[in-house]
Amino acid sequence: MTHPPDPVADVCDRVGEDSIRAVTRAFYAQIPDDPILAPLYPEHDFDGAEERLADFLVMRFGGSTRYAETRGHPRLRMRHVPFHIGQAERDRWVQLMDRALDTELGDAEVRERVREFLHGVATFLINAPDR
Ligand code: HEM
Repeated sequence: MTHPPDPVADVCDRVGEDSIRAVTRAFYAQIPDDPILAPLYPEHDFDGAEERLADFLVMRFGGSTRYAETRGHPRLRMRHVPFHIGQAERDRWVQLMDRALDTELGDAEVRERVREFLHGVATFLINAPDR
């Protein structure tokens, strides 16, 4: 039984870690003013949250493993349990991320693989009914 190739393992090699950090920055720049997502961040630690997401994505995309060194195993489902993530929250997250990808990732082939991966994880993280 062979494993299918990981479709996002080469992303950092292809576009560089800085592009992934730029995507995350453009994504988080939209969060504080977003009426659906901002209320999910009661601590308002947007800078810390941006760094955690960037480190995770860089690691998942084949770059630096700083996320694992500072945060341990990702356990994304478990770490999102405290937040109400219904279809509306998932769809808004994806919408803001799509904008960030469109402005920050110039390589269309890589961008669409990243988009598909992120949409899938976002769906997987739905943990609540619509409000
Ligand atoms: C589906 C919609 C999503 C919502 C509403 C959401 C919301 C949140 C919130 C409120 C946090 C806490 C912020 C903080 O770290 O202080 C968080 C953390 C995080 N999210 Fe999401 N998220 C979503 C999707 C995703 C996706 C698709 C990914 C990855 C592909 C992701 C990866 C992460 C990571 C890595 C953290 C930090 C975990 C840690 O180390 O503590 N999230 N998210």
